[in-house]
Amino acid sequence: MSDLEALKKEAAVRAAALVESGMRVGLGTGSTAKYAIEELGRRIASGELKDIVGVATSEASDQLARQLGIPVEPLDPRPLDIAIDGADEIDPKLNLIKGLGGALLREKLTEVQARRFIVIADHTKTVTHLGEKAPVPVEIAKFGFLSTIERLRAMGLGGRLRQPGAQPYVTDNGNHIFDAQLPESFDPATLERQLKGTLGVVETGFFLGMAERAFVASPDEVRELTP
Ligand code: 5RP
Repeated sequence: MSDLEALKKEAAVRAAALVESGMRVGLGTGSTAKYAIEELGRRIASGELKDIVGVATSEASDQLARQLGIPVEPLDPRPLDIAIDGADEIDPKLNLIKGLGGALLREKLTEVQARRFIVIADHTKTVTHLGEKAPVPVEIAKFGFLSTIERLRAMGLGGRLRQPGAQPYVTDNGNHIFDAQLPESFDPATLERQLKGTLGVVETGFFLGMAERAFVASPDEVRELTP
Protein backbone atom coordinates (compact mmCIF):
# COMPACT_ATOMS: atom_id res chain seq x y z
CA MET A 1 0.00 0.00 0.00
CA SER A 2 1.41 3.44 -0.97
CA ASP A 3 1.91 6.13 1.67
CA LEU A 4 -1.08 8.09 0.37
CA GLU A 5 -3.33 5.02 0.49
CA ALA A 6 -2.21 4.38 4.08
CA LEU A 7 -3.19 7.96 4.98
CA LYS A 8 -6.62 7.62 3.37
CA LYS A 9 -7.15 4.42 5.33
CA GLU A 10 -6.13 6.08 8.60
CA ALA A 11 -8.66 8.87 8.09
CA ALA A 12 -11.35 6.35 7.12
CA VAL A 13 -10.76 4.16 10.18
CA ARG A 14 -11.03 7.20 12.48
CA ALA A 15 -14.41 8.10 10.97
CA ALA A 16 -15.70 4.51 10.96
CA ALA A 17 -15.04 4.40 14.73
CA LEU A 18 -17.94 6.87 15.14
CA VAL A 19 -20.40 4.27 13.85
CA GLU A 20 -22.28 2.41 16.60
CA SER A 21 -24.54 -0.63 16.56
CA GLY A 22 -28.06 0.05 15.30
CA MET A 23 -27.09 3.10 13.23
CA ARG A 24 -28.25 3.91 9.71
CA VAL A 25 -25.11 4.89 7.83
CA GLY A 26 -24.57 6.73 4.55
CA LEU A 27 -21.80 4.96 2.64
CA GLY A 28 -19.69 7.24 0.46
CA THR A 29 -18.01 6.57 -2.86
CA GLY A 30 -14.39 6.65 -3.98
CA SER A 31 -11.03 5.27 -2.95
CA THR A 32 -11.11 6.81 0.56
CA ALA A 33 -14.75 5.92 1.29
CA LYS A 34 -13.92 2.35 0.26
CA TYR A 35 -11.62 2.05 3.30
CA ALA A 36 -14.44 3.22 5.58
CA ILE A 37 -16.80 0.60 4.13
CA GLU A 38 -14.12 -2.06 4.56
CA GLU A 39 -13.59 -1.02 8.18
CA LEU A 40 -17.34 -1.26 8.87
CA GLY A 41 -17.32 -4.71 7.27
CA ARG A 42 -14.38 -5.70 9.47
CA ARG A 43 -16.14 -4.51 12.61
CA ILE A 44 -19.31 -6.39 11.67
CA ALA A 45 -17.34 -9.57 10.98
CA SER A 46 -15.60 -9.31 14.36
CA GLY A 47 -18.97 -8.99 16.11
CA GLU A 48 -18.14 -5.51 17.43
CA LEU A 49 -20.83 -3.80 15.32
CA LYS A 50 -24.39 -5.10 15.03
CA ASP A 51 -27.58 -4.21 13.19
CA ILE A 52 -26.28 -1.35 11.11
CA VAL A 53 -27.95 -0.48 7.83
CA GLY A 54 -26.04 1.17 4.99
CA VAL A 55 -27.41 3.53 2.37
CA ALA A 56 -24.99 3.45 -0.56
CA THR A 57 -24.17 6.50 -2.67
CA SER A 58 -23.24 4.48 -5.77
CA GLU A 59 -23.72 1.07 -7.33
CA ALA A 60 -20.02 0.37 -6.62
CA SER A 61 -20.35 1.11 -2.89
CA ASP A 62 -23.62 -0.85 -2.76
CA GLN A 63 -21.87 -3.88 -4.21
CA LEU A 64 -18.83 -3.57 -1.93
CA ALA A 65 -20.99 -3.19 1.18
CA ARG A 66 -23.09 -6.25 0.37
CA GLN A 67 -19.92 -8.30 -0.29
CA LEU A 68 -18.70 -7.32 3.18
CA GLY A 69 -21.94 -8.29 4.92
CA ILE A 70 -23.30 -4.76 5.42
CA PRO A 71 -27.08 -4.77 4.85
CA VAL A 72 -27.97 -2.07 2.30
CA GLU A 73 -31.30 -0.31 1.93
CA PRO A 74 -32.44 2.37 -0.48
CA LEU A 75 -32.63 5.96 0.70
CA ASP A 76 -36.00 6.73 2.27
CA PRO A 77 -37.15 9.87 4.11
CA ARG A 78 -35.84 8.74 7.53
CA PRO A 79 -32.72 10.57 8.69
CA LEU A 80 -29.39 8.78 8.67
CA ASP A 81 -27.37 8.79 11.89
CA ILE A 82 -24.13 9.40 10.07
CA ALA A 83 -22.63 9.52 6.58
CA ILE A 84 -18.94 9.11 5.80
CA ASP A 85 -17.47 10.14 2.47
CA GLY A 86 -14.37 11.45 0.72
CA ALA A 87 -13.98 14.78 -1.06
CA ASP A 88 -12.00 16.31 -3.89
CA GLU A 89 -11.44 19.67 -2.17
CA ILE A 90 -12.02 20.80 1.41
CA ASP A 91 -11.86 24.49 2.33
CA PRO A 92 -11.26 25.81 5.89
CA LYS A 93 -15.04 26.00 6.54
CA LEU A 94 -15.42 22.40 5.36
CA ASN A 95 -17.17 23.45 2.17
CA LEU A 96 -16.42 20.77 -0.37
CA ILE A 97 -16.08 19.94 -4.00
CA LYS A 98 -17.17 16.37 -4.63
CA GLY A 99 -18.00 14.24 -7.62
CA LEU A 100 -14.75 13.54 -9.42
CA GLY A 101 -15.80 9.92 -8.81
CA GLY A 102 -19.12 10.67 -10.49
CA ALA A 103 -21.47 9.95 -7.57
CA LEU A 104 -22.35 13.54 -6.60
CA LEU A 105 -26.12 13.33 -6.97
CA ARG A 106 -26.61 10.25 -4.79
CA GLU A 107 -23.97 11.55 -2.39
CA LYS A 108 -25.77 14.86 -1.90
CA LEU A 109 -29.19 13.20 -1.61
CA THR A 110 -27.81 10.88 1.07
CA GLU A 111 -25.50 13.21 2.99
CA VAL A 112 -28.03 16.01 3.31
CA GLN A 113 -30.20 13.56 5.29
CA ALA A 114 -27.43 12.59 7.71
CA ARG A 115 -27.41 14.00 11.24
CA ARG A 116 -23.62 13.88 11.03
CA PHE A 117 -21.74 14.12 7.74
CA ILE A 118 -18.08 13.19 8.24
CA VAL A 119 -15.50 13.83 5.55
CA ILE A 120 -12.38 11.70 5.17
CA ALA A 121 -9.34 12.60 3.12
CA ASP A 122 -5.60 12.74 2.86
CA HIS A 123 -3.89 16.11 3.23
CA THR A 124 -3.69 16.78 -0.54
CA LYS A 125 -7.42 17.60 -0.53
CA THR A 126 -7.30 20.70 1.66
CA VAL A 127 -7.38 24.09 -0.10
CA THR A 128 -7.70 27.71 0.96
CA HIS A 129 -10.55 28.26 -1.50
CA LEU A 130 -12.67 25.93 -3.62
CA GLY A 131 -11.55 25.55 -7.21
CA GLU A 132 -7.87 25.81 -6.34
CA LYS A 133 -7.05 22.41 -7.77
CA ALA A 134 -10.21 20.71 -8.96
CA PRO A 135 -12.99 21.55 -11.41
CA VAL A 136 -16.52 21.38 -10.06
CA PRO A 137 -18.41 18.44 -11.53
CA VAL A 138 -21.89 19.38 -12.77
CA GLU A 139 -24.29 16.51 -13.45
CA ILE A 140 -26.40 17.32 -16.50
CA ALA A 141 -29.31 15.52 -18.16
CA LYS A 142 -28.31 13.30 -21.08
CA PHE A 143 -31.16 14.63 -23.19
CA GLY A 144 -29.98 17.84 -24.83
CA PHE A 145 -26.65 17.79 -23.01
CA LEU A 146 -24.89 19.82 -25.71
CA SER A 147 -27.50 22.57 -25.30
CA THR A 148 -27.00 22.52 -21.53
CA ILE A 149 -23.23 22.82 -22.03
CA GLU A 150 -23.83 25.85 -24.27
CA ARG A 151 -25.87 27.43 -21.49
CA LEU A 152 -23.03 26.76 -19.02
CA ARG A 153 -20.48 28.27 -21.39
CA ALA A 154 -22.73 31.30 -21.87
CA MET A 155 -22.44 31.79 -18.08
CA GLY A 156 -18.69 32.16 -18.62
CA LEU A 157 -17.74 28.68 -17.41
CA GLY A 158 -14.90 26.86 -19.09
CA GLY A 159 -14.48 23.13 -18.75
CA ARG A 160 -15.36 19.99 -20.61
CA LEU A 161 -17.78 17.13 -20.87
CA ARG A 162 -16.35 14.16 -18.95
CA GLN A 163 -15.43 11.62 -21.59
CA PRO A 164 -12.99 8.94 -20.50
CA GLY A 165 -13.22 7.03 -23.82
CA ALA A 166 -15.16 7.18 -27.05
CA GLN A 167 -18.43 7.96 -25.24
CA PRO A 168 -19.34 10.51 -22.57
CA TYR A 169 -19.26 9.26 -18.97
CA VAL A 170 -22.69 8.12 -17.74
CA THR A 171 -23.54 8.40 -14.04
CA ASP A 172 -25.47 5.80 -12.04
CA ASN A 173 -28.50 8.01 -12.75
CA GLY A 174 -28.05 7.92 -16.54
CA ASN A 175 -26.78 11.50 -16.79
CA HIS A 176 -23.55 13.08 -18.05
CA ILE A 177 -21.02 15.25 -16.20
CA PHE A 178 -19.56 18.61 -17.24
CA ASP A 179 -16.36 19.32 -15.28
CA ALA A 180 -16.51 23.11 -14.95
CA GLN A 181 -13.31 25.10 -14.52
CA LEU A 182 -13.88 27.67 -11.85
CA PRO A 183 -13.02 31.34 -12.30
CA GLU A 184 -10.18 32.82 -10.24
CA SER A 185 -12.57 34.59 -7.91
CA PHE A 186 -16.16 33.54 -7.29
CA ASP A 187 -18.67 32.99 -4.51
CA PRO A 188 -19.48 29.25 -4.31
CA ALA A 189 -23.02 29.79 -2.94
CA THR A 190 -23.89 32.25 -5.74
CA LEU A 191 -22.45 30.00 -8.43
CA GLU A 192 -24.24 27.00 -6.94
CA ARG A 193 -27.56 28.91 -7.17
CA GLN A 194 -26.86 29.98 -10.75
CA LEU A 195 -25.98 26.45 -11.77
CA LYS A 196 -29.06 24.97 -10.10
CA GLY A 197 -31.17 27.53 -11.95
CA THR A 198 -29.78 26.47 -15.33
CA LEU A 199 -32.03 24.26 -17.45
CA GLY A 200 -30.54 20.78 -17.86
CA VAL A 201 -28.41 20.91 -14.70
CA VAL A 202 -29.35 18.11 -12.32
CA GLU A 203 -26.87 18.73 -9.48
CA THR A 204 -23.50 20.27 -8.73
CA GLY A 205 -20.48 19.04 -6.83
CA PHE A 206 -20.56 21.95 -4.37
CA PHE A 207 -21.33 20.57 -0.89
CA LEU A 208 -21.61 23.78 1.09
CA GLY A 209 -22.22 23.92 4.84
CA MET A 210 -22.98 20.22 5.04
CA ALA A 211 -19.97 18.64 6.74
CA GLU A 212 -19.84 18.41 10.54
CA ARG A 213 -16.17 17.43 10.68
CA ALA A 214 -13.33 16.08 8.60
CA PHE A 215 -10.56 13.64 9.39
CA VAL A 216 -7.60 14.70 7.27
CA ALA A 217 -4.54 12.47 7.37
CA SER A 218 -1.02 13.76 6.78
CA PRO A 219 2.24 11.86 7.34
CA ASP A 220 2.48 13.32 10.89
CA GLU A 221 -1.07 13.03 12.22
CA VAL A 222 -4.77 12.71 11.50
CA ARG A 223 -6.24 16.17 12.05
CA GLU A 224 -9.87 16.48 13.10
CA LEU A 225 -11.28 19.64 11.51
CA THR A 226 -14.55 21.41 12.24
CA PRO A 227 -16.03 24.38 10.33
C1 5RP B 1 -17.19 10.61 -5.67
C2 5RP B 1 -16.62 11.58 -4.72
C3 5RP B 1 -15.43 11.12 -3.94
O1 5RP B 1 -15.74 11.17 -2.59
C4 5RP B 1 -14.29 12.04 -4.25
O2 5RP B 1 -14.09 12.04 -5.65
C5 5RP B 1 -13.03 11.61 -3.53
O3 5RP B 1 -12.61 10.39 -4.03
P1 5RP B 1 -11.24 9.72 -3.55
O4 5RP B 1 -11.42 9.37 -2.13
O5 5RP B 1 -11.09 8.52 -4.46
O6 5RP B 1 -10.16 10.73 -3.79
O7 5RP B 1 -17.07 12.67 -4.53
O8 5RP B 1 -18.26 11.17 -6.39
